[in-house]
Amino acid sequence: MICKTITYRDFRNIEEGTLTCSPGVTILYGKNAQGKTNMLEGVYMFAQGKSHRARVESELIRFGADAAYISMKYRSDKSAAAESELSMTIERGHRKTPYKNGVRLDRMSEMIGNFRAVLFSPEHLSIVKGAPSERRSFLDVAISQLRPVYVRTLQRYNAILLQRNALLKSAARRGARPDAVLLESWSEQLSEYAAKIAVIRAGYADKLSDIASELYADMTGKREDIKISYHGTSRIGGDYGDEERVRDIYRRQLTENTEREIMLGATQYGIHKDDVDIFIDGKEAKLYASQGQQRSIVLVLKLSEGEYSRRQTGEYPVLLLDDVLSELDTQRRAYVMGGIKDRQVIITSCDMSARRRVKDCVCYSVRNGKWSET
Ligand SMILES: Nc1ncnc2c1ncn2[C@@H]1O[C@H](COP(=O)(O)OP(=O)(O)OP(=O)(O)O)[C@@H](O)[C@H]1O
Ligand SMILES: [Mg+2]
Repeated sequence: MICKTITYRDFRNIEEGTLTCSPGVTILYGKNAQGKTNMLEGVYMFAQGKSHRARVESELIRFGADAAYISMKYRSDKSAAAESELSMTIERGHRKTPYKNGVRLDRMSEMIGNFRAVLFSPEHLSIVKGAPSERRSFLDVAISQLRPVYVRTLQRYNAILLQRNALLKSAARRGARPDAVLLESWSEQLSEYAAKIAVIRAGYADKLSDIASELYADMTGKREDIKISYHGTSRIGGDYGDEERVRDIYRRQLTENTEREIMLGATQYGIHKDDVDIFIDGKEAKLYASQGQQRSIVLVLKLSEGEYSRRQTGEYPVLLLDDVLSELDTQRRAYVMGGIKDRQVIITSCDMSARRRVKDCVCYSVRNGKWSET
């Protein structure tokens, strides 16, 4: 997967500009708050269908402008076309409008899966020590790019969850029991989708764990070992091989604990409560990982995501590394810069040391939302 050019208009602090990327390494270099992360954010929007950091999408529109526009020309080995184009407009108070080769797509989820990229960003450090939702979201984003239908499955689950929660909340408010038939129907549907999602997530976590353990050993010179596993409800244990069994366990939990759920006014069981365990040398990373280790773990997770994507699709996703080199010791830095061959990488940095580590690269100096090749 190669991002050839990306054009920004009124996106974040960028008024107008087109970035031409090297098929190898592109370095975006500049002082703090110049727009380097904004540029990566724009690229990643096409992979994920949304920003990795904006809470509301209007944040993406340049101050004082009415709408933002980004478009990308890219090439995929899987497509016969020499070049394809994705674009989107973001208007205040409207949904984003996605296009592929100039044709409007019905929904954003249709864009996901066309262009694949993996982003490492300092925001992602919370995957290790943050709330379980951070780790679930890591899995969901990674899986979505490989299995676009997964996005719809998740949306479906969340829609049913919303309905079931509304039913429980209204019962709690009235001090009455919820409509039994309706509750059973939501529980039935919820456990069915929960099982589908949990089985996919657990399978993905297992694959990732194998790859990550190789990469982590390389990065640390075999001094540390990593293991990742999906952590659903304890009654499932570690066995996600049988979707029906998993569904029955979720369903039983949803039917056996109605009193408690009414009291709390929300659904207490399901994949929206699940987690991912990360162990370093057998110890929980959530509790014990140092700052440098957190960075190494997230980096290895992201590199493993890229490697798994290559094994599945036959080509590497574009690797976007935002401020990756700070806080890594010399050995880990050398590993990162040495290990990213045969794929496209776009990397941001506040200092020029990255440039010295890479032989062939295109380097841009970024200042106040504008860039020039140096
Ligand atoms: N909607 C917007 N309109 C105009 N400017 C914006 C908008 N959103 C963010 N900015 C500005 O963009 C700048 C930050 O850009 P960015 O996060 O890309 O910096 P950076 O170059 O990655 O810096 P650092 O090295 O600190 O990470 C900030 O000054 C911020 O005020
Ligand atoms: Mg930044």
